[in-house]
Amino acid sequence: MVSHANYSTVHSLGHTHLIEVSEKIDTEQALCYRIHADMTTYGHLMNQPNFSLLFSGQQIAERVKELALQIDEDYQGRELVMVAILKGSFLFVADLVRAVQTPTIVDFMRLASYGSGICSSGIVEIRKDLEIDIKGRDVLVVEDIIDTGQTLETLREKLLSRQPASLKVCALIDKTGSRSGKTPIDYVGFSMEKGFIIGYGLDLDERYRDLPDIHLLDPNGIS
Ligand code: PRP
Repeated sequence: MVSHANYSTVHSLGHTHLIEVSEKIDTEQALCYRIHADMTTYGHLMNQPNFSLLFSGQQIAERVKELALQIDEDYQGRELVMVAILKGSFLFVADLVRAVQTPTIVDFMRLASYGSGICSSGIVEIRKDLEIDIKGRDVLVVEDIIDTGQTLETLREKLLSRQPASLKVCALIDKTGSRSGKTPIDYVGFSMEKGFIIGYGLDLDERYRDLPDIHLLDPNGIS
C-alpha cells in the first residue's frame, strides 16, 4: 500500500468532481481513477483498459540501488558519462545518477520512433543530439525500455563513431519477446517477455509518465 494522499486531486486534470479523494489509496486504484478522469475529459480511451501493477515504486527503487552498486564496482576510479534517452528515461536516470557513487556527467539524446500508440514503428528519428564530446570517455546509455532493439542499434552505431573509451547500456526494462537487434545490454533492471507498460517515465500517447509505479496494460482495452 502506497500513500497517495491528494494524488487524485493533483493528477485528475482538474476534474476533481469525478474522484472521491481518500487519504490512502493503493496504486492500482490511483491509476483507475486517473484513467477514468482522462476518459471523461478527453474521450481518448474508448474502453477502459485493464491494467495491473507490475513493478512498484519501492521495487524499482531497490533495483536501482542494486544496479548502482554494480555500476560503481565496474567503473572504480573512472568518470562516467550517462547518456539518457529522452523522454522515457528521465525518471530512471534521475534516480540512477543519485544512487551511483561514481563521478558522473549526464547528457541527453532524443531518439524516437515515428508515430504514437502501443507499437514501435521501426523507423528511428534523431530529434536531439548530445551536447558534450564523448571521445575517450566511458559512456553508459540509460534507457527506460529496450523493445525491438532498433533504437539502441541506431544509437550504438552513432555513439561508437565518436570513439568513446567504452560504451555500455543500462536499461530499466528489457523486453525480450520482440528483440531484433543483437546489441548487448550490460545492466538490466527487470526483464519481461511481452506486454505494454506505462508509468515511471513510460507513456501511452505522452500520458502516465508521471506515475510512480509501472503498470501492465491489456492492449485489447486500448483504442
Ligand atoms: C521508447 C524507449 C526506447 C525505445 C525502445 O522510446 O524509451 O527509446 O522506445 O524501443 P525499441 O527497442 O523498439 O527501439 P519512444 O520512442 O517510445 O520515445 P519516448 O521515450 O519519448 O516515449
